[in-house]
Amino acid sequence: MTGDDALLRVIDLTKQYAVRRGTPVQALPGLSMDLADGEFVCMVGPSGCGKTTLLKILAGIVTPTSGELRYRGQAITGAQQSMGVVFQAPVLMPWLTILENVLLPAKVLGLERRAAQASAMELLALVGLQNFEAKYPFELSGGMQQRAAIVRSLIHDPAILLMDEPFGALDALTRERMNVELQRIWMARRKTVFLITHSIPEAVFLADRVIVMSPRPGRILREFAIPFPRPRDIELTGTTEFGDYTRAIRALLDAQGDIG
Ligand SMILES: Nc1ncnc2c1ncn2[C@@H]1O[C@H](COP(=O)(O)OP(=O)(O)OP(=O)(O)O)[C@@H](O)[C@H]1O
Ligand SMILES: [Mg+2]
Repeated sequence: MTGDDALLRVIDLTKQYAVRRGTPVQALPGLSMDLADGEFVCMVGPSGCGKTTLLKILAGIVTPTSGELRYRGQAITGAQQSMGVVFQAPVLMPWLTILENVLLPAKVLGLERRAAQASAMELLALVGLQNFEAKYPFELSGGMQQRAAIVRSLIHDPAILLMDEPFGALDALTRERMNVELQRIWMARRKTVFLITHSIPEAVFLADRVIVMSPRPGRILREFAIPFPRPRDIELTGTTEFGDYTRAIRALLDAQGDIG
């Protein structure tokens, strides 16, 4: 892929956080990467290497110190309607029903209520939450809340879905199911996904491309193209070929002298 056909280009992004005392924290030393339209990209790297910082810059929540973002060739700054964001904790509003939670971004963006509601019901059905729209978050399991959060991130039909360890708080079995589910949503809706995870198997299972980061300040060490055909079945994770990728990525991270 050349930069010109990228959906999103990240060019030499740096971020220094000012601290109360001493020298600023260098969180990103100059990171460049591209996301192609429809691509599923996962990023793995040691704790503190700047993954969340990068995602927050992409989402327009954090301002970079320097560097540039281009969306379809246009320089962008700040929050973009083209992005949907999912964080580690589902962060649903406890006093709103699932449907009201899911419709929040549509409300904020002033989208037409009836169309947004129709889209919400369709998406809730897609993630198996039909009949739960009138419930409150506390009435749902952690996995169900995270699925509602994913629906909320899709409600304004963003081109790019940014996910920061979206399944980190789930048990192993639910997490596996969510991986399969996310792949299904991605195949049905054809979004571009950028997903950060600490789980190497999760990254290899989901991604077209896995970006491996060095310890802080995070640089891209290597990218792995993952060739397995889709839809991928969870059985894939038990195969030798799958293990070859997870082992290679783990070895690379281990060689950095830090835990991934
Ligand atoms: N608001 C902030 N102010 C000061 N320093 C920060 C701030 N946010 C992050 N940092 C620092 O920037 C570096 C990168 O943090 P970041 O949260 O991006 O890492 P990460 O790769 O997401 O880590 P993890 O895998 O643990 O989530 C860390 O050294 C962190 O201490
Ligand atoms: Mg993080």
